[in-house]
Amino acid sequence: MDNSKKATTIIILGATGDLARKKLFPALFGLYKKDKLPKNMKVEGFSRRNFKSSDFRQFLIENVPNFKDRDEKITDFLNLVEYSEGKFDDPTSYESLINLLQKIDEKFGNCSDKLFHLAVSPAFYELVLQNMHKTGLTLSCTDGTGKTKIIIEKPIGHDLKTAKEIHSLINKIATRDQIYEIDHYLTKETLHAAKTLSEKENLRKIWNNEHIESIDITLFETKDIEGRGEFYDSLGALRDVGQNHALIVLSHMLQENGAEKNVQKRRADILKNALKLEAVAIKDIVRGQYIGYLKEKGVENDSETETFFKFPVALGDKKWEGVKITVAGGKGLSKNEVGVKVIFKKPETFKLESKHLTDIKEILFRIQPEPEAIFTDKTDKKEVINLKGKTYQGHSSESYEKLFLEVFKGNEDLFVSEEEVEASWVIVDQIHEIWTKLPLIKYEKGKFPN
Ligand code: BG6
Repeated sequence: MDNSKKATTIIILGATGDLARKKLFPALFGLYKKDKLPKNMKVEGFSRRNFKSSDFRQFLIENVPNFKDRDEKITDFLNLVEYSEGKFDDPTSYESLINLLQKIDEKFGNCSDKLFHLAVSPAFYELVLQNMHKTGLTLSCTDGTGKTKIIIEKPIGHDLKTAKEIHSLINKIATRDQIYEIDHYLTKETLHAAKTLSEKENLRKIWNNEHIESIDITLFETKDIEGRGEFYDSLGALRDVGQNHALIVLSHMLQENGAEKNVQKRRADILKNALKLEAVAIKDIVRGQYIGYLKEKGVENDSETETFFKFPVALGDKKWEGVKITVAGGKGLSKNEVGVKVIFKKPETFKLESKHLTDIKEILFRIQPEPEAIFTDKTDKKEVINLKGKTYQGHSSESYEKLFLEVFKGNEDLFVSEEEVEASWVIVDQIHEIWTKLPLIKYEKGKFPN
């Protein structure tokens, strides 16, 4: 086929939801403005609301954060957008979607690549995937022209058992290279800058229990659940950001640079070796809920769902034996601090590109609010290295721009593998089990549970 005719259709299932409005459409528009979307393309929104395409475009203008500033390119971008009303549990809705996609392909004059983004609550994944399969939506074009890809958001499953069920369904209905499991934290620039820094500055040599006393991974947010009551209440902080973002930060930061070339495998190996329960103190495991959470819309009034978690990790690997590793995260806290703090046993020296830092007792690889590496010496003097722009931009919608580009290219490194997802559920399931014996600590908004 003449490559200039090659076309792409992005289908957003759950097109009026939170993720689509706050992240996906801003990301697609961002790419459009930078001229980075495929040349011939359409975006098809699929959702329950009774909308015509024109209503949906108006809905986007009113609800997508970066559409409100009346950029003149918005109208051009919206010309690419169409809408199809449908219910996730109704096979006829999927039939209508197929008809619509066929019409789009007829206009393109070829079978377009189809990229389905499941921007729906994880509770619907199985239902949606089953229906897509039954109606043939998961199939790529038989003549080998357009390829069908499916993007799924974290968390995959509710525990190890359900994650395995989803994976086994996926493996039945699609080939692995059609599936992209998202954790947008893998695009965070701090993670990539930390890796470059560690390779350049020989950080790897001191990346072990001889030199490191402790590692703290935090995902602290001051914001509350921001109206996502029903969704959040069915998950809790540990499933929302612990099982995925926090553990991917851990496995990314500690992965070996050895013979294993496959990044996903390297990260999975760290997780598979984590949390020897007999080696961690139960008293160090915390679950908390901010006061006022029960009044949030969509939250059960006797809900025990946590908005804060903290747990220690004891890596089985010899090289990490004895290093105190803690993973924590939550909402309604006193500060925004997303990052990794590494404390050394005795002060270390770093020869950075333009600076020579001596007597460094700790490094904070900060992901948010700003991507920075902060080196603190033994007199508490700080040296801040700005990591902004070193790789990708930090905000979520820009992370999604990067993720879309990687899916277009078919590059899987920035996505998580089945093995990683399941290894992280093994950890999280153990914490959930212990939690049944622990009290839920209530904390005031703007503070930490103690
Ligand atoms: C999302 C969670 O995956 O990540 C949110 O559902 C959380 O609850 C968000 O606030 C944090 O992402 P970022 O990119 O804003 O740090």
